[in-house]
Amino acid sequence: MDPRKNPYAPGAGTKPPALVGRDSEIESFDILLERLENGYSEQSMIITGLRGVGKTVLLDVFREKAEDRNWATVEWEVEKNTPLGQKMSNQIRRALLQIAPKARWTERARKTAAILKSFSITFNPDGAVTAGLDVDPMPGIGDSGMLANDLTDLFVALGDAAGEQNIGVIFLLDEIQYLAAPELEALITALHKCARRALPVTMVGAGLPQIPRLAGEAKSYSERLFQFPKIGKLDLNTFARDALVLPAKTLNVQISSQAVDYIIEYTEGYPYFLQEYGKFLWDEASDSPISEAIAKEVQPLVEAKLDNSFFRVRVDRTTELELKYLFAMAQLGSHPQKASDVAKELGRSTEQVGPIRSRLINKGLLYTPGHGFAAFTVPQFDRYLLRRHSDLGE
Ligand SMILES: Nc1ncnc2c1ncn2[C@@H]1O[C@H](COP(=O)(O)OP(=O)(O)OP(=O)(O)O)[C@@H](O)[C@H]1O
Ligand SMILES: [Mg+2]
Repeated sequence: MDPRKNPYAPGAGTKPPALVGRDSEIESFDILLERLENGYSEQSMIITGLRGVGKTVLLDVFREKAEDRNWATVEWEVEKNTPLGQKMSNQIRRALLQIAPKARWTERARKTAAILKSFSITFNPDGAVTAGLDVDPMPGIGDSGMLANDLTDLFVALGDAAGEQNIGVIFLLDEIQYLAAPELEALITALHKCARRALPVTMVGAGLPQIPRLAGEAKSYSERLFQFPKIGKLDLNTFARDALVLPAKTLNVQISSQAVDYIIEYTEGYPYFLQEYGKFLWDEASDSPISEAIAKEVQPLVEAKLDNSFFRVRVDRTTELELKYLFAMAQLGSHPQKASDVAKELGRSTEQVGPIRSRLINKGLLYTPGHGFAAFTVPQFDRYLLRRHSDLGE
């Protein structure tokens, strides 16, 4: 088929041609916004899931929805080495300017700007962020140097200023597992204060599956403050098929049901794999309906693409020892593995390999689904390691 018309969208955060299987999360988000708009409190939301299941795409859908409803939105991807305080100064400045342009600032907006200035001087000493705000800092508020207190001061002031204009503020944070523990704690504390005061400030985060545990460790009331929708592979009988079939269908191209079955089995319904497969299938096929034979012919191309990009970038970030650890896990299977079993597989003690395991969790390659267990954050990583790194098992 004409590659210029290829509808599939493999990538990171690239909008899929058919966004399927996420109705309940989207509905929860609508409820969240509507409740806050009407002065009710509602749990903020943190979406969790493995790599490539569609977390970023969903955050983007949420942002569009919030914008349509006239919310002030600030969206960013957390990076390991950028402190939250620094990033927040910037983002809250943006939120404040969305609530009202400077020329129309009320007393409350000006107060928020003054606290932002204090906060900014404290956490962002180069001062670049607030250069244009044109207010004096407010000593004693937002400048203690304790992130949880200062961020709370700032969120409350922002919520007051937003509420006065009948506008809500939503923070959309991707890769939230990369927040440092005190940063996550500060964010939770600040949001909690807003929730208690029914201020229209909320957050939707997205990240790897360890987040509910990290949040619980930071603050025990986290499970009451947040809902943690988990997204994953698409249902094999319905949504996974739709994700593959609908984009072609809108361009009058059919895919035979045998071809669909074959692809669903290979991809296990993982959204990113489906997009990648669809893309190759479209480019290689010349007739509709696309046959199972073409689907099979394309499979090595898809696999080579996944191996050389999606999987390889993870391996490139590991040391030899870390890779050996991952390989030992892969040999044990795709399900969560006990630390002691992996150690045994490597012929070492649990204590000896503990630091390797911690580093892999820190790098976002593993997560801990339960005490003493670890699992891959990348779907089908075990299969990849076994086919591409079999030398490690020798
Ligand atoms: N509901 C969906 N239906 C079909 N395709 C989807 C869906 N959600 C996401 N995709 C596709 O899956 C791929 C990955 O999406 P996205 O980057 O949002 O995943 P992610 O969970 O953020 O991954 P990562 O953890 O690596 O950041 C994209 O190509 C996107 O188009
Ligand atoms: Mg993402």
